[in-house]
Amino acid sequence: MKMKVRKAVIPAAGMGTRFLPATKAQPKEMLALVDKPIIQYGVEEALAAGCDQVIIVTSRGKQSIEDHFDVSYELEKMLEARGKIDLLRLVHGISDMVHVAYVRQKETLGLGDAVLTARELVGDEPFAVLLPDDVVDAQIPCLKQMIEVFDETQSSVIATQIVEGEAISAYGVLDVKPTDGRFKGKLFEIQNMVEKPALKDAPSDLAIIGRYVLTPAVFETLSQTQKGSGGEVQLTDGIKLLLKKERVYAYVFEGKRHDAGDKLGFLKATVELALKRKDLGEPFRLYLKTLDLG
Ligand code: G1P
Repeated sequence: MKMKVRKAVIPAAGMGTRFLPATKAQPKEMLALVDKPIIQYGVEEALAAGCDQVIIVTSRGKQSIEDHFDVSYELEKMLEARGKIDLLRLVHGISDMVHVAYVRQKETLGLGDAVLTARELVGDEPFAVLLPDDVVDAQIPCLKQMIEVFDETQSSVIATQIVEGEAISAYGVLDVKPTDGRFKGKLFEIQNMVEKPALKDAPSDLAIIGRYVLTPAVFETLSQTQKGSGGEVQLTDGIKLLLKKERVYAYVFEGKRHDAGDKLGFLKATVELALKRKDLGEPFRLYLKTLDLG
């Protein structure tokens, strides 16, 4: 019987140090891109890809994430009383969207450990991982493209994109070989992977982007994974161990990825997403044209 991806894990336990001071008392996942918290983009992508259960890995100080996906009773009553029906629908829609389960990572031991924390909630089935910092703007949601690959290969799939030059050292980097068949040119079989290598040690220019479809066997390998880059348990290293047991693919997805966890990336994402908005795009474009960009 074919395995189906129903669950999506969204790690949101990190400290957000790249975004201080904004993240001193507020989770970085709750910073708004235009008018929506970063994490909501991830949740909506998971749903659009066909997942019906979302598991968010949190930590201390992340309460507002839970509040965001919960019913805001007082706010809804107030909007109702004032007849603001469109806003009421918008606000209610968020809590109605999906059932979210939360699990807490007690110590920030790394992304691999965060994913392992979701083991019991995921159980023995394939699952998706979406890193909320990576916001992917795509006609067909990135995760949906990947699940299509999974449905055919029944193997783990990692999203990848070319990253040039020194910047590659901020990513997991893949050593791959091409595949034939339906996804030829976009699908590669991973031979090896390394987390945040120096440019000279990078096996290629193919960087891991924060979308994964993983088989449950990865929980076993993650539980055996030692601390790696940055003194943390890395998801990349856990999947590298999985390579010894199973095939793992890399998929060059279609779409534009924004690194919303980085100040400059966040600014770029804000501008690009705002320009695409029906309600804001035109006046925003006109405003940008008035700027003297030297
Ligand atoms: C994580 C992963 C890395 C991946 C990156 C994509 O790193 O560990 O392999 O390339 O996400 O955004 P982080 O950005 O959390 O340091």
